[in-house]
Amino acid sequence: MKTIQAIHTKTIIEPFRIRSVEPIRFTTYEERSAALSRAGYNPFMLRADDVLIDLLTDSGTGAMSSQQWAGMIASDESYAGAKSFYRFEAAVKDITGFKHVIPTHQGRAAEHILVSSTIKAGQVVPNNNHFDTTRANIEHVSAEARDLVIQEGRQPQTIHPFKGNIDLDALRKTIESVGKANIPFVMITVTNNSGGGQPVSMANIRAASAIAHEYGLPFIIDACRFAENSWFIKLREEGYADKAPIDIAREMFGYADGCTMSAKKDGMANIGGFLALNDDDVAMNCRNMLILTEGFPTYGGLAGYDLEAIARGLYEALDEGYLRYRIRSIEYLGEKLIAVGIPIVRPTGGHAIYIDGRSMLSHIPDSQYPAWSLNNALYLVGGVRGVEVGSVMFGKQPDGSEKAAAMDLVRLAFPRRVYTQSHVDYLSEILIGIHEHRDEVQGHRLLWQAPLLRHFTVRLEPVG
Ligand code: F0G
Repeated sequence: MKTIQAIHTKTIIEPFRIRSVEPIRFTTYEERSAALSRAGYNPFMLRADDVLIDLLTDSGTGAMSSQQWAGMIASDESYAGAKSFYRFEAAVKDITGFKHVIPTHQGRAAEHILVSSTIKAGQVVPNNNHFDTTRANIEHVSAEARDLVIQEGRQPQTIHPFKGNIDLDALRKTIESVGKANIPFVMITVTNNSGGGQPVSMANIRAASAIAHEYGLPFIIDACRFAENSWFIKLREEGYADKAPIDIAREMFGYADGCTMSAKKDGMANIGGFLALNDDDVAMNCRNMLILTEGFPTYGGLAGYDLEAIARGLYEALDEGYLRYRIRSIEYLGEKLIAVGIPIVRPTGGHAIYIDGRSMLSHIPDSQYPAWSLNNALYLVGGVRGVEVGSVMFGKQPDGSEKAAAMDLVRLAFPRRVYTQSHVDYLSEILIGIHEHRDEVQGHRLLWQAPLLRHFTVRLEPVG
């Protein structure tokens, strides 16, 4: 007989109390239909007030803690050498171990500064999967962003614990065939956002780093979701079950020569990012570029209070109770969808659920953007906004031609500490309803597109 002390609950609760609330606005189907039409059938163009549950992104949309707000009130807004900068720098160094910490206003600014300081036209950057801003920054300097994720990472239904891993043979072959002089650095994105929020194993990071270093190439981590990746290593990789997420993160960064970071994700902040590097010369060039484009090296486009929020947020993102709740809540939604046969990227990843639009809406041809169409249906039916990560986002080739993306997905990304289990239950009911009526969902055709990053501003119309 178990004693009363051994009573065990299955439910993993939100590890916080809510002390400040923000109302959300309910709308009718007709109101949403009009709003989507006004937005050119592009959810990026909707007013957030017309959205009930906003899963467009987990970037900069999280709820901050009372500790973070307290730090913001006590910030130092000095232009140069502010105390807030030194607190921020100490936190980044403590977790990453990198020598130079360069604050930026967000992740893409760190990418821009690194790319413009180190890459020449015609060079190739290998990565598991480049995120769209990383790819665009690389292509903007006429270099190539080459995706080398393992085969399993390209197949939504294939189960693999680390679908974000880079294909090590392909990495070596790329370096051999392109020539190390034509590769500025090797990159790895944790977790692999464009590939379904899938983690990268420590063994893969260690091996990719060893290959890069064998050829004398720097190894750079796109660290936006480093804490979530650390949690997956703890859960799924042998030898890490008893390690604290912070120690796993430190080991991960220890294999790298630098990182780009969007603190809007695992920095738990509404804005901010950084570039961290070990190389003195590269760091000097990057700081010079920073002064030109972002600001003085001790604020880099941020307010002192942003630096304070990040300094605390980086540690909060590594808290075990938080990570357990975070990853479990994504898995909980995944289980509900899998149970009724909705095709999602499996296993569920870190920050989002990714629905395979191509497979769910098989009556819509790739040329009519099934995932985009599913996302619009989700808004119309439930007021929920996700984002297409598929052929609209990635289908336009550098030469202007159109090619269907390897995976045509709808990503439902969860802001950190914002929605509760009943929001998730509502969402699953909407998705199950759409799945039952999936034959009624129409495709879309393009009306207008911008030359770069077209998904943000593209205009479409429903077909038929
Ligand atoms: N790298 C990855 C893996 C990202 O997911 C993002 C942003 C960036 C870089 C760029 O950072 O937005 O601060 O400039 N991802 C957001 C998203 C926008 O919705 O996934 P940023």
